[in-house]
Amino acid sequence: MKKILVTGGAGFLGSHLCERLLNEGNDVLCVDNFYTGSKANVAHLLPHPHFELMRHDVTFPLYVEVDEIYNLACPASPPHYQNDPVQTTKTSVHGAINMLGLAKRLGAKILQASTSEVYGDPEVHPQKEDYWGRVNPIGIRSCYDEGKRCAETLFFDYWRQHQVEIKVARIFNTYGPRMDPNDGRVVSNFIVQALNGNPITIYGEGSQTRSFCYVSDLIDGLIRLMASPKDFTGPVNIGNPGEFTMLALAEKVIKLTGSKSQLTFKTLPQDDPKQRQPDIELANRVLGWKPSVDLDDGLIKTIQYFKEINS
Ligand SMILES: NC(=O)c1ccc[n+]([C@@H]2O[C@H](COP(=O)([O-])OP(=O)(O)OC[C@H]3O[C@@H](n4cnc5c(N)ncnc54)[C@H](O)[C@@H]3O)[C@@H](O)[C@H]2O)c1
Repeated sequence: MKKILVTGGAGFLGSHLCERLLNEGNDVLCVDNFYTGSKANVAHLLPHPHFELMRHDVTFPLYVEVDEIYNLACPASPPHYQNDPVQTTKTSVHGAINMLGLAKRLGAKILQASTSEVYGDPEVHPQKEDYWGRVNPIGIRSCYDEGKRCAETLFFDYWRQHQVEIKVARIFNTYGPRMDPNDGRVVSNFIVQALNGNPITIYGEGSQTRSFCYVSDLIDGLIRLMASPKDFTGPVNIGNPGEFTMLALAEKVIKLTGSKSQLTFKTLPQDDPKQRQPDIELANRVLGWKPSVDLDDGLIKTIQYFKEINS
């Protein structure tokens, strides 16, 4: 039985990852400081004999014995990561140093949850892994974007300098049950607004595009990446290439919830990327991975979850 550490394990993605790893017969240590995650996300896992929950902040060193590390700890939504930007950079950078140090000491494999934000507001479309990105180093999103870029640098330096076995996933927008209803991500925002009959907020004209990956597909990609051959480090894009404008997403949500919500338009925030779409050829070729849940099916499951927590 493998012992697996998941940092940020009480968050949206982390809780699904812990669940899946337990179901596959592993021993899971979930570490979280509950900054954006919650015990409620993993409460159903607590009785499991192979699940352990530890409150810990990854900006401090951690001494545990494990075979694999999934490093997911980091607030992911703009309102949360901009709330304490210094802490966001510390979590990405000090967190990476601490977890890489742990992996080095243990000879453990380590996977980094990086992000499509490393591409910034991209000039090439769709984004391939060899694109270096276009990121503002001094803007309000930089604590997250540059923090994640520096974490990638650290991963590759530990690999070159210390031969730590690394895996870097560049995750694109992911949605599904257990998203925080108040954390300002577009899918949860639209669904909550539609279910409450409130106006749906569109930033700019709503013509900016995003692609949305359902959580089970994403978790499958991370697990395949961890199991990939030793010489495959990534970075590898994991996301759904289906591209939708914010207006099209809002219309879908209104239709699927049967809501009477109207649209309301607000100014586009600083550095908001206009287009985002992963090229997943590499993930498909090396990991045999591609997403299988289409947007309507994923939205229906997510809407059901928000209805349950609302009632
Ligand atoms: N969901 C997405 O669309 C998406 C896209 C790209 C990348 N990612 C990355 O995936 C990871 C998980 O994202 P998520 O959507 O589940 O976000 P989330 O905010 O739900 O989860 C992050 C978790 O990390 C914990 N955390 C934050 N700072 C910590 C610290 N210093 N020490 C210990 N724990 C800490 C939080 O409490 C939370 O449980 C993040 O690293 C994020 O950057 C997510």
